[in-house]
Amino acid sequence: MTEFDVHSYPDLKDKTILLTGATSGIGLETARLLSQTPCTLILHGRNPAKLARVEAELRASGGPATIKSEIADLSLMRNVRGLARRVRENHPGLNLLINNAALSQRNAEMTADGLEMTFAVNHLAPMLLAMELSPVLRCNAPSRIVFLGSMGHRFCIVNRRQIQSWNMPWGIIRYCCSKTLVMAAARKLGELLDQSGVSVLSVHPGSIPTTDVFNVPLLRPFSLNVKDGAEAVVNAALAPELQDAHGAYFNRFKLEKPGLQVRDPRSVEFVWRESLEFLGISEQAALNLVLGGT
Ligand SMILES: NC(=O)c1ccc[n+]([C@@H]2O[C@H](COP(=O)([O-])OP(=O)(O)OC[C@H]3O[C@@H](n4cnc5c(N)ncnc54)[C@H](OP(=O)(O)O)[C@@H]3O)[C@@H](O)[C@H]2O)c1
Repeated sequence: MTEFDVHSYPDLKDKTILLTGATSGIGLETARLLSQTPCTLILHGRNPAKLARVEAELRASGGPATIKSEIADLSLMRNVRGLARRVRENHPGLNLLINNAALSQRNAEMTADGLEMTFAVNHLAPMLLAMELSPVLRCNAPSRIVFLGSMGHRFCIVNRRQIQSWNMPWGIIRYCCSKTLVMAAARKLGELLDQSGVSVLSVHPGSIPTTDVFNVPLLRPFSLNVKDGAEAVVNAALAPELQDAHGAYFNRFKLEKPGLQVRDPRSVEFVWRESLEFLGISEQAALNLVLGGT
């Protein structure tokens, strides 16, 4: 197998990338890889001290990237909107959004908005961020939105009662359900942005024991390391042949048919409508947001 080389992708000079969750795990490793290219790399984190450490590390590494940073706790939708506004204002040349930030936790927790944390951070936040940044990405086409999905989405179909109550008993189930939803949203965005020059895709980076939830005996035989995960993310973000992958799902480097809820158009519509309701956005307003001007 040939060795992964970030320089084998098209030149990223004049490209601007927003990478969420750049402070740990796969996101941090992805940031390290992208910092070795001449892009403008906007690192997002929620913890200022951690973000400052990553920024300092990348600057000290001497890579050619111009490093910027943005802080936002993505569990609150007003913070997601604030992040999108700052990126639109300060980085109008944005070409690539990597929606990497997510969490997996054993116990359910409510946000100050009254949403369950995993649902808010893993599904609503990346969906909203992608919608809010779509106009600027369309202006800068060809551009791309990468969602971090998970092969765990295959084990979950989320019905109306579950989406409304979101009271699944185990963290791993909440996590997998959140990935089903965000991948369905990615599929819908991919359809809406078809013909716009914005490619939307989901990628499963591999099974990597970054948190307790993933570090379980069942997954250990398949475990990879964070660098393997980051390579799959970078490939999804940069491979030129994926520019027409509107809404497609990749298991690391391989195109795969997604699970039932993500490939069934009626289920995708259901997820889209229900999610917009949580976001307080009408269907027409969503179309205006995604397909309207900057
Ligand atoms: N690891 C796997 O096996 C696996 C498999 C499939 C998919 N994925 C996906 O890959 C992506 C990266 O996962 P990972 O394994 O690298 O996880 P991780 O090490 O826990 O990193 C998650 C990142 O998201 C950030 N984050 C969490 N909650 C946030 C919030 N409320 N607001 C803003 N940022 C927040 C974290 O910030 P802090 O640094 O401050 O904690 C961190 O930077 C996720 O989307 C995950 O679902 C992972």
